[in-house]
Amino acid sequence: MAVEWSEKLATGNDDIDNQHKELFRRFNNLLDACHQRKGKEEVSKLILFLGDYVRTHFSMEESLQKRCSFPGYSDHKKQHDGFIHDLKKLEQQFNLEGATLLLVIQTNQTMMDWLINHINSTDKKFAEYLRTGA
Ligand SMILES: [Fe+2]
Repeated sequence: MAVEWSEKLATGNDDIDNQHKELFRRFNNLLDACHQRKGKEEVSKLILFLGDYVRTHFSMEESLQKRCSFPGYSDHKKQHDGFIHDLKKLEQQFNLEGATLLLVIQTNQTMMDWLINHINSTDKKFAEYLRTGA
């Protein structure tokens, strides 16, 4: 099963949209690897990638929100901080125990929650604000 980026998820900001597309692509690499029973090999690549990418991506979204006085900024940032917290837990678990099956499952859940719930709902509200100013 692939989790696809679609135009419905577009924010209209090319940098943000390209970063979202890359996140979907990376997550699909993990899903593909899981189907081939190679999830443990791929999960470490994804966690290493997310470490820098997600922090850069969130700060870009947040500074754009501040620049355009987005009223949902603090709630949006709370969700970002929650995701960084989850990511830190995954990184710690990876450092302690390596790439286990449990880590693969938890990474899948975290990514699914973020890509489906955050990008599809919270980021869309911001995109709507960018388009209409409301
Ligand atoms: Fe966001």
